[in-house]
Amino acid sequence: MNLAKISESWPTVQPSAFKGKDLLRIDEFSGDELLYLLQSALHLKQLQKSGQQYEPLKGKTLGMIFDKASTRTRVSFEVGMYQLGGMGMFLSGKELQLGRGEPISDTAQVLSRYIDAIMIRTYSHADVEQLAKYASIPIINGLTDMFHPCQALADMMTILEHKGRLQGVKLAYVGDGNNVANSLVLAAALLGVDVSVAAPPGYNMSEEIVKTAQQYADESGASLTFTDDPVQAVTGADAIYTDVWTSMGFEAENEVRLKAFQGYQIDQQLARHAAADYIFLHCLPAHRGEEVAADIIDGRHSVVFDQAENRLHAQKAVLAAVI
Ligand code: CP
Ligand code: NVA
Repeated sequence: MNLAKISESWPTVQPSAFKGKDLLRIDEFSGDELLYLLQSALHLKQLQKSGQQYEPLKGKTLGMIFDKASTRTRVSFEVGMYQLGGMGMFLSGKELQLGRGEPISDTAQVLSRYIDAIMIRTYSHADVEQLAKYASIPIINGLTDMFHPCQALADMMTILEHKGRLQGVKLAYVGDGNNVANSLVLAAALLGVDVSVAAPPGYNMSEEIVKTAQQYADESGASLTFTDDPVQAVTGADAIYTDVWTSMGFEAENEVRLKAFQGYQIDQQLARHAAADYIFLHCLPAHRGEEVAADIIDGRHSVVFDQAENRLHAQKAVLAAVI
């Protein structure tokens, strides 16, 4: 597979189109703009692997506000800024005055005077929109209850690397219609990836997301299917994706969810309906024995650590483009 060749045929987008932009939802960007970011991410990955320095963000600072736990997002953003010549500054939501009631609008305006961009991981998506409204610097969503756009970009990069294309790839998402699923389906629809989502009744993606994704799919030629039957979703899939059944902030629903999701585990019996060379994806952290069997996530089809690594490269592409 020759990724360089793939990227040659991609549409040209002016890098200046990204300067100062926010990334609150993955569909903040068009399909062509996402392809540009993927191309840039692949290039940055190659540079890093060959030991070449690329430091366009010298002297720049990214503030990283976390109201929820994180391993990948925190480390990959901080390391990414460092590798690009700048620095990442960890800001615990609890320790900021924000946690004692300082308005988001004031926080946004103050931070805009010190730093060059903000990455935020929090609960309410409306809070991130509020931050973006009052900040004069780019705001990057590092996960809300509704969306996880940086994850979706790394997911598309991983599929592209392993399958050599995006258009026409068959992706099955089995599980909760959550933040990761919302961003994944929107990204796939923009990029022409066919998606089948299987979720138990009551845990489907919102109507707004389904409708918006369908509009993108109509343009890109992707096909979207929503079902409650995991076998139907996985049949013939080139890639199978799942995420935890209980996301951060929903812990009180854990027991009810464990029951509702019975039969939705990705195990060998389900995976045998997929294409022989399917890849297994998971944003991590994973619960072995719940949404995925250990012999799947630790098995030969799993690419979850490539996917985790790609968070770094994809986010570097975003940082270099928007700052
Ligand atoms: N996938 C992901 O966002 O991981 P973290 O919660 O560890 O950041
Ligand atoms: N859906 C999960 C993703 C974690 C990266 C959560 O929100 O907890």
